[in-house]
Amino acid sequence: MMKRVIWLISGLNRRMMKLLFALALIAYIASVWGTYTNMRSIQEHGEMKIEQRIDEAVAPLREKIRDLEQSFSQKYPPVKFLSEKDRKRILITGGAGFVGSHLTDKLMMDGHEVTVVDNFFTGRKRNVEHWIGHENFELINHDVVEPLYIEVDQIYHLASPASPPNYMYNPIKTLKTNTIGTLNMLGLAKRVGARLLLASTSEVYGDPEVHPQNEEYWGHVNPIGPRACYDEGKRVAETMCYAYMKQEGVEVRVARIFNTFGSRMHMNDGRVVSNFILQALQGEPLTVYGSGAQTRAFQYVSDLVNGLVLLMNSNISSPVNLGNPEEHTILEFARLIKSLVVSRSQIQFLPEAQDDPQRRRPDIRKAKMLLGWEPVGW
Ligand SMILES: NC(=O)c1ccc[n+]([C@@H]2O[C@H](COP(=O)([O-])OP(=O)(O)OC[C@H]3O[C@@H](n4cnc5c(N)ncnc54)[C@H](O)[C@@H]3O)[C@@H](O)[C@H]2O)c1
Repeated sequence: MMKRVIWLISGLNRRMMKLLFALALIAYIASVWGTYTNMRSIQEHGEMKIEQRIDEAVAPLREKIRDLEQSFSQKYPPVKFLSEKDRKRILITGGAGFVGSHLTDKLMMDGHEVTVVDNFFTGRKRNVEHWIGHENFELINHDVVEPLYIEVDQIYHLASPASPPNYMYNPIKTLKTNTIGTLNMLGLAKRVGARLLLASTSEVYGDPEVHPQNEEYWGHVNPIGPRACYDEGKRVAETMCYAYMKQEGVEVRVARIFNTFGSRMHMNDGRVVSNFILQALQGEPLTVYGSGAQTRAFQYVSDLVNGLVLLMNSNISSPVNLGNPEEHTILEFARLIKSLVVSRSQIQFLPEAQDDPQRRRPDIRKAKMLLGWEPVGW
């Protein structure tokens, strides 16, 4: 009997023990779950806080990026669409200069692919910065005295300082640019079968004995004077063009450019129009070298650019004058600019510059007849 009672109690105990064990297990799991869910909610809460903080920190950065993107998403001037067949790959040496940058604008807007090569001696990035990033545009910092290897269809060879103070600053470099530089560009034209247009100058006529100057006139140049590095440099550049044409079959075009003016002329480059405007604006004397009776004729840059493009795409390989035949004395220009600027500046006469041409006026009958070109002004 006693044994039975003991067995019953121990049986009960075992059940109780099991029950108690099960209850303890449930309680344990519940407490672990509670802790877990509690921790999770703390963690989630923490994560939310971190995310919130990150969001707060990133928001102003996002705004800055948006601002930067807006400032970088440059608005380019309108560009025509040209089919693959009509679109040309065009190199402009000296394309960051006064004339070159206007030519870049025209060719870009016409829908071509333009590569500007410039060593920034007198040119400025600012002149072409409105094209930087455009898929049809490339700017290369390169000196044409070094060879260049690119694939192009046309080369406008403008690289050369153009104003007397600039080309006289380093006459040897001016000579190298116009000789070695031109040889390099003709070599490139020969290699890739491109057509080359040389930006020559009315200075090849020197101080002319023929007036107005037509393309048949051989010129009157002092080969050892202060302007010779430029004048003779351009003359030999023309000679090189025709040697490459005759010997190597390179297609060349030669534009003899007369005085040109317009926006983006460097204010301090010493050319007469920009000089007078600057002096008149600053109330300084307008400096006239000699008596002021020497004549010049100025064309506007857009006329020149149209003439260059017409010539490049024509079949005229002999030199063509591009200029405005309306001739005035330097004194007349000085008075005109003084009155237009409404300046109190006086006109100051200085000793005549050596080898300064006395008369300058283009005969543009050839350009009119063969290109249908004449200046229209602005
Ligand atoms: N503007 C005129 O009235 C005029 C008249 C006659 C001829 N031209 C000819 O037209 C061309 C352009 O003249 P511009 O008035 O624009 O002058 P510019 O000085 O404004 O431009 C000349 C450009 O050539 C670059 N350059 C010079 N040497 C170089 C070199 N070694 N390598 C690479 N780039 C070089 C300069 O940095 C500059 O960007 C010149 O060849 C000039 O002789 C101009």
